[in-house]
Amino acid sequence: MIIALANSKGGVGKSTLAVHLAVWWQEQGAKVTLVDADAQGASSIWLHEALPQAAIFRLQSPDDILDRMPGLQRDFKQVVVDGPAGLSEVTRAILLVSDLALLPCGPSVLDLRAAHEAIRVVRQAQAIRHGPPQAALVPNKLQVQYRLSRELLESARSLEVPCTDGLRLRQAYADAAGQGTVVWRLGPRGEAAASEIKGLFHGLFRPEPKDDAGSVANG
Ligand SMILES: Nc1ncnc2c1ncn2[C@@H]1O[C@H](COP(=O)(O)OP(=O)(O)O)[C@@H](O)[C@H]1O
Ligand SMILES: [Mg+2]
Repeated sequence: MIIALANSKGGVGKSTLAVHLAVWWQEQGAKVTLVDADAQGASSIWLHEALPQAAIFRLQSPDDILDRMPGLQRDFKQVVVDGPAGLSEVTRAILLVSDLALLPCGPSVLDLRAAHEAIRVVRQAQAIRHGPPQAALVPNKLQVQYRLSRELLESARSLEVPCTDGLRLRQAYADAAGQGTVVWRLGPRGEAAASEIKGLFHGLFRPEPKDDAGSVANG
C-alpha cells in the first residue's frame, strides 16, 4: 500500500506523521520504506536516526516518483511517502500513485483553506484514476479548547472528506523530532502522544485483515 502525506501547507505535520507511521509499520512486522519527496529531506534524516536500518529513498521529481514507485510497491508491503509543501507537480505525481492520501491539517481557518486546495487536487487524481486515492484529513496541533476543534471538525465535514481522530499540540512531538526518535520511545513524557498517535494508526489500519469494516487499509 502506498500512503502519502500531503497538503498545500508546510508545518502541518506531514513529516512527523510519515516518520511515526514508518516506524509503526516496521514494529508491526511489515516491510516498509519511506520515500522522502521533500527537497528539505527532514523526514529521511529523522527516520535514519530513529530506524538506522530503514530503507529510505529520496525522490524529488515527478518522473522519479512515477518511474520508481511501481518497483517500490512490488518490493515493500508499505510505502510511506512524505510529500513536499504545496500542490506542485511532485504532489500531483504522488497522488497519481498513492492508495491513500492523508492530509494533515492545522486547526486554523487558514489551515482549512489550504486543505481545501489540497482536496481539490486529490479530486483531480481520483477523477483520472476512477477512484483512488482514498483521502482523509488528519487534524493536527489541536488546542485544548474544545470549541476550536469542534469548528474544525464541522468545517472538515463540509469538505466531504473523512476526518480521522486528531492529534493535540504536544511538546512530545517536537521533542521526538529534535531527538531523532518517535514519541513512544520518549518514556513517560511521551505517553499521551504515543497512545494518541498509535490510536490513530490502529483506527486507519487495523492489524487484523479479517475484520476490516471501517478500516481503509484493506478497502
Ligand atoms: N501535534 C504536534 N504538537 C506539537 N508540535 C508538532 C505537532 N505536529 C508537528 N509538530 C511540530 O511542528 C513542526 C512542523 O511539523 P512537520 O511534521 O515538520 O510538518 P510538515 O512536514 O508538514 O512541514 C515540527 O517542528 C514538528 O515537531
Ligand atoms: Mg515535512
